Amino acid sequence: MLSDDILKEQLKNTLDKTNLNIGKKYEGKVRDSYVIDNKRLIITTDRISAFDRVLCTLPFKGQVLNQTAAFWFEKTKDIVKNHVIDIPDPNVLVAKECELIPVEMVIRGYLTGVTTTSAWYNYEKGIRNFCGNILPEGMEKNQKFEKPIITPSTKAEKGAHDESISGEEIVKRGLVDENIYKKMESVALALYNFGNQYVAKNNLILVDTKYEFGLLDGELILIDEIHTPDSSRFWVKDTYDELFSNNKEPQKLDKEYVRQWLADKGFIGEGKIPSIPDEVKIEAAKRYITAYEMITGKDFEAKNEDILARIENNLKKI
Ligand SMILES: Nc1ncnc2c1ncn2[C@@H]1O[C@H](COP(=O)(O)OP(=O)(O)O)[C@@H](O)[C@H]1O
Ligand SMILES: [Mg+2]
Repeated sequence: MLSDDILKEQLKNTLDKTNLNIGKKYEGKVRDSYVIDNKRLIITTDRISAFDRVLCTLPFKGQVLNQTAAFWFEKTKDIVKNHVIDIPDPNVLVAKECELIPVEMVIRGYLTGVTTTSAWYNYEKGIRNFCGNILPEGMEKNQKFEKPIITPSTKAEKGAHDESISGEEIVKRGLVDENIYKKMESVALALYNFGNQYVAKNNLILVDTKYEFGLLDGELILIDEIHTPDSSRFWVKDTYDELFSNNKEPQKLDKEYVRQWLADKGFIGEGKIPSIPDEVKIEAAKRYITAYEMITGKDFEAKNEDILARIENNLKKI
């Protein structure tokens, strides 16, 4: 783990915005993309979003995400083709530009969450048909589903909230054709099962996650990110059973820390974002770094430097 001094020092150096003079720029909540011909240069910034809002930046978060995704793209390339061409910098991925399928494939192994689109929020409100999955009575918060469930959502335009939807409705609305949708389901489940089994060796549970897919020459391609602490929840495995049976929250290794901190301040997505103190940013950064180290089994390596200058330098080489 990086020292507190390094993390504190990096608060001044976080990567918030980029403004490169290449291609056509697209700004997501966390990533800035530059599309040049059939390639997409994706820069993962240090921005953190929760409840669909950008909150602030965290030291080294962009590098954690980019390197975690890179690790998984490599490990899962035999399950499904992905968009990776090159990783020229710790925060940068050169990807194949795909035709985006406007659906997020969410896979959930456990009944949990705090946001209004989460499985637990809906279950607690009495909903038993969640995106076409019929859930049994009497389940408790954080309980494992008998089998992982698929709860897709639409990919909303910037500023809007994503909407839960069933597979049937996705096909009916023509968001993607049926054969491809079926393939998205089976690939998403295979990726989730692979990921969950993989992290089990490192004492983690992959609680839930989301995948995005694109099409290239009619072929299904995994895009965006995979099994990162932004797109997934991770819990510590060996303490889960005991905490669950005592009605306690699991040990969380993801941005649930930040969501919970905000929720405790009364913020769940609407209105003014509470200002986030440096201690909370550092604690959150540590959780991201811990997630990287536990998921990959590698030490996280970074130093205090101007990230944008380093990126520009590395891009010159390609
Ligand atoms: N290979 C790709 N081809 C086309 N679009 C992609 C590809 N990889 C990622 N994207 C898109 O780039 C954007 C990445 O930015 P991000 O900050 O993750 O956006 P969001 O706010 O939608 O989560 C997303 O809209 C994602 O769908
Ligand atoms: Mg995204």
